[in-house]
Amino acid sequence: MCGIVGYIGDKPAESVLLVGLERLKYRGYDSAGVAIIDDGDIIIRKSAGKLRVLDEILKENPVNGTIGIGHTRWATHGGPSTVNAHPHNDCKNKFAIVHNGIIENYALLKERLIQNSHIFKSETDTEVIVHLIEENYNGNFLESVVKTVSQLDGSFALAIISEYHPSSMVAVRKGSPLIVGKGDGENFIASDIPALVNLTKRIYYLDDKEIAVITRDDIQFYDFSGKEIKKEEKNISITDKLVDKSEYEHYMLKEIMEQPDIVASIIRERISGEEILFNKLNFDNNYLVKIGRIIIQAAGTSWHAGLLGKFFIEGFARIHTEVDISSEFRYRNPVIEGDTLVVAISQSGETADTIAGLREAKSKFIKVLGICNNMASTIARESDAVIDIMAGPEIGVASTKAYIAQVVSLFLFSLYMGKIKWALQPEDINMYINELKKIPEKIKEIVDKKDEIERLAEQYYNRNNFIFLGRSYNYPTAFEGALKLKEISYIHSTGYQAGEFKHGPIALIDENVPVVCIATQGEIYNKMVSNIQEVKSRDGNIIVIATEGDKQIQKFSDKVIYVPNTIDILSPILNVVPLQLLSYYIALKRGCDVDQPRNLAKSVTVE
Ligand code: AGP
Repeated sequence: MCGIVGYIGDKPAESVLLVGLERLKYRGYDSAGVAIIDDGDIIIRKSAGKLRVLDEILKENPVNGTIGIGHTRWATHGGPSTVNAHPHNDCKNKFAIVHNGIIENYALLKERLIQNSHIFKSETDTEVIVHLIEENYNGNFLESVVKTVSQLDGSFALAIISEYHPSSMVAVRKGSPLIVGKGDGENFIASDIPALVNLTKRIYYLDDKEIAVITRDDIQFYDFSGKEIKKEEKNISITDKLVDKSEYEHYMLKEIMEQPDIVASIIRERISGEEILFNKLNFDNNYLVKIGRIIIQAAGTSWHAGLLGKFFIEGFARIHTEVDISSEFRYRNPVIEGDTLVVAISQSGETADTIAGLREAKSKFIKVLGICNNMASTIARESDAVIDIMAGPEIGVASTKAYIAQVVSLFLFSLYMGKIKWALQPEDINMYINELKKIPEKIKEIVDKKDEIERLAEQYYNRNNFIFLGRSYNYPTAFEGALKLKEISYIHSTGYQAGEFKHGPIALIDENVPVVCIATQGEIYNKMVSNIQEVKSRDGNIIVIATEGDKQIQKFSDKVIYVPNTIDILSPILNVVPLQLLSYYIALKRGCDVDQPRNLAKSVTVE
């Protein structure tokens, strides 16, 4: 995914754009650039590398002007080079454009444009759009854009400026998010809300196939036929505090430390006495009780949350539940009956594969429940009902607080389903709720041990391979711990179901491979101890996540990280926290960019 900003007003566009891009850099950071109309001319400054490179370029070569667009990129077509950085301009430099998404028919378009003597500079799909606008330009900015977008296949959020129309900019949305911010004598375009904090609280969410023509005093909306439409203004409540790092060095650490409060706020919002509540859940109970099967589809960390969702839903509501990786679900022509509910879990709500899975389900007239952290996202808007995980903006690319919020939301939704299907006794529901209410304090106890975990990281940060093992509720935890470590420290690490380990992967073990074993007290504890002994007997180096008070586990371990006791089914919420911290500190000691790991972006909005 990429980050787009646009500004028109009285302030220097350069500074407004840079601040906005800084707040969107989690969306991609291979390269960055701005295009500003300075005294009637479009001036473009762009460069490969992080935003600070662009910052330096602009310090040396500032650009004046009060209308401009900016972009921070996660490369899809064409490597992360300066020439492929956005913005892109046409042959005569009369238009400049920034884009988030993929133009699927760009090769054919590019071939035809080259035959029409257009000169291309980049390898990107984006550049075909600005040459098409040049070719379609008839003196009317809107009409030229309307004609252009009708020729594009794929997904695109666009911001466009033109020397022919120095007092307006155009925003276009199809398949990739884009919002328009309304100010006083100034207006804004942004891919996501954090870019608008401190600028305005008045916004419009563009829907698919919508266009906005924006001047400093006015915003007009149109559909893709060019017909004017009306849109409702919304108010946003995101404050500086929510999108700043506060006193933390990295967003990831801030977001790990926020987890006790996030879980406490979900409990406050979702539980009233013995009632479990869901806002925006548009399904009524008459529909929910008839659900005979659930298919959860998600990607990455959200898929790990889905694996836990299966345990919860089958355990509490006795509904058969499958869990699919979105990029597989959408192509496997799933067997779906009328009583199936598809659940799309996505922190960003913009993951292309999960969106495609949602649309696949809806094409078969199956209802979809979204579980998202962004209620303005595509998945939240296209789902038949949506659960807001209420984790607040998650900026660190490695998902932490959103994961725990997904798991807690799934836990409560499953209890809710168990209750309305009479599959749970009231006293059991109360017990689970009471145990859940203790979790925030228990997470706090763990995050308060971060210095101990930092010291542990000191001993292991230079290893090249890690294994994570867990059973039952904690095999997803093993998967999640491995993903956290690999995506921010670049250490090869894999999670396995511990019982599966002896069926081949145990061949990987030697004294150089740390094995993180999740062995908190529970039904399968003794089985986990056996697995640990199997590893130990092969010179494995064992780090165990264990329950406070468990002394015997020390006999089989090289290192033990203790977590507070809880009921087995809630243990994944606690057990993942030391793994988040371990991966954070290992990555830090390896000099990795924790918040913006290489090759990644916060949300993968391309297939
Ligand atoms: C998680 O740490 C990763 N950054 C990644 O796996 C992420 O969970 C995945 O891309 C899904 O994103 P989503 O939840 O926004 O759909």
